[in-house]
Amino acid sequence: MSHPRVLVVGAGAVGQVFAHHYQRGGAEVTFFVRDKYRADVARGFDLYPLNQRRRRRPGAEPVRFDGFAVVSAAAEVAARAFDQVVLTVASPALRGPWLPELVAAAGDATVVALQPGLDDRALVLAAGVPEDRLVQGMISLVSYHAPLPGETRFARPGMAYWFPPLSPSPFSGPAARTAAVVAALRAGGLPAKRHRDVPRLAGFPTAVMMPYLVALELGGWTVRGAARAGTLTVGGRGGREAVAVVRSLLGKPPLGLGALTRPWLLRAGLWATRPLIPLPLEIYLREHFTKVGEQTRELLDGYIAKGQAAGLPVTALEELAAGLRRARAGAAADAPATARGAS
Ligand SMILES: NC(=O)c1ccc[n+]([C@@H]2O[C@H](COP(=O)([O-])OP(=O)(O)OC[C@H]3O[C@@H](n4cnc5c(N)ncnc54)[C@H](OP(=O)(O)O)[C@@H]3O)[C@@H](O)[C@H]2O)c1
Repeated sequence: MSHPRVLVVGAGAVGQVFAHHYQRGGAEVTFFVRDKYRADVARGFDLYPLNQRRRRRPGAEPVRFDGFAVVSAAAEVAARAFDQVVLTVASPALRGPWLPELVAAAGDATVVALQPGLDDRALVLAAGVPEDRLVQGMISLVSYHAPLPGETRFARPGMAYWFPPLSPSPFSGPAARTAAVVAALRAGGLPAKRHRDVPRLAGFPTAVMMPYLVALELGGWTVRGAARAGTLTVGGRGGREAVAVVRSLLGKPPLGLGALTRPWLLRAGLWATRPLIPLPLEIYLREHFTKVGEQTRELLDGYIAKGQAAGLPVTALEELAAGLRRARAGAAADAPATARGAS
């Protein structure tokens, strides 16, 4: 199908990039957004594709992205026809009555779920998506509201994004529908490929990454700070615990994954790859994972609950979760004082 009709749910960092590349590939794009964002989204977006060298030079001009439709209610979805509905919201947003309503309105469109949680597939199925219409994907791009603090290279604010080399986003599900999703994205220049089992593929790296992210947050969002504070070591242990939990549910992890739970190896890898990454990585991690902080906490709590249920050790994960609760309670307590200070 050369001109699929695609509904992109959520017009945030990932939604804008997916929608732009769908459109570039010839798809007819519609955004489904909360009513409060509707007018803003309809004005279109400025995007900075960082894989293009000229978009990352000082004074870089963005690519304009518009020419799409915007809806914000299930009834508007029901009044149109869609071939693909792509859920780009974070995991916690999958809950609530809006998703079953949207699914019911979307006819027999393929539903593409990109969320990283172990329970997210079940949530989407429970919202009424039959297995034979569900395609699951893993996001392997980096996308953020630019400029990040300290970034001065962009002509004006926009969404900057980067496709890491040799890491196409994998998709799995019913063969013809998965092939159609991959083809539509690739036609628009978004690196994508078919995979046998994305939930399994995504489950393990997420399990390694989440404890490290909490470790980073507890260390003040720098690798050096986390190493000094000792949280990086706990993050590595937490990663091994989370991998064991995922293993108990999904089977053997990919070869070599365990190495990533060794903090020294992670640091060496980051040091070696840093010159190749065209954005300030730690600042991006701080901004992004503060934005989706609720999702990280839920993922961590999920590993703990599942580990406890399976009788597996989760002490490092519990230590991280307790640290996170303390840190966020502290930040919340500080917030009104900061606001008072500013006024
Ligand atoms: N950005 C990245 O680099 C990146 C990389 C890998 C994976 N991911 C994953 O991709 C997911 C989305 O991340 P993101 O960076 O795109 O987040 P984001 O910028 O916050 O975008 C999500 C958007 O969805 C909206 N939304 C939430 N519930 C909705 C609903 N019921 N209907 C319509 N819109 C709704 C949100 O609105 P509100 O803000 O009002 O809730 C927000 O605008 C997360 O799971 C994240 O971990 C992101």
